[in-house]
Amino acid sequence: AGRLPLSGRHVLVTSGPTHEPIDPVRYIANRSSGKQGHAIAAAAQTLGARVTLVTGPVDLPDPEGVTVQHVETAREMLAAVEAALPADVAVFAAAVADWRAATEAEHKIKKGKGASPPALALVENPDILSTVARRSRQRPQLVIGFAAETDKVVENAETKRKSKAVDWILANDVSEGSGVFGGDRNRVHLVTAQGVEDWPEMSKTDLAAALLGRAARYLAQAKGS
Ligand code: C5P
Repeated sequence: AGRLPLSGRHVLVTSGPTHEPIDPVRYIANRSSGKQGHAIAAAAQTLGARVTLVTGPVDLPDPEGVTVQHVETAREMLAAVEAALPADVAVFAAAVADWRAATEAEHKIKKGKGASPPALALVENPDILSTVARRSRQRPQLVIGFAAETDKVVENAETKRKSKAVDWILANDVSEGSGVFGGDRNRVHLVTAQGVEDWPEMSKTDLAAALLGRAARYLAQAKGS
């Protein structure tokens, strides 16, 4: 077999939502389906990479030929990501919960007759993307994030790219009616230090292939590789 564009490379991908427990039966979550992240992992594998996919709870099969780490919480996701380093490319497609319950109740929280509902105190979760992008040791050569925005999509993504020390951001409009969450299609703007490219609407599979093809060309052109 001929050498594929990502032969010899390790690609690390996060996907899906995270579940943040409140008590043994309840959790905080979000609407991420994992379709885009899983498609990215599969595309990297097709291009010849060794792939590690760290995924939150999703209804999708593990992509073939990919090492899959299943996690529930943001903190578990961060630990699995760090354990998977080094990587040449890291793509952060997971919709990590921004907050988790400050404490996880050991027993199911009971509804009290006439009592007021319990207060839910939240604390911030680690930002996995920026933690990895700011590493001095074992920072992947190419760190890619997503920015799901409902307003000022590109502007907010440019700010995010810089504040999180990310190389590329894929900005997408997830406002109501865009159909991105759970859908099969996506439309993104690729935001890099060189500027912004508006990509046409395409399937999440085609987007994954385009992105990984682009990443392969970037690695091939980068000095010392
Ligand atoms: O700040 P925001 O959540 O919009 O950033 C989105 C990007 O950051 C995505 O690439 C997402 O996977 C990543 N992220 C992360 N850890 C978090 C929050 C976001 O890796 N706690």
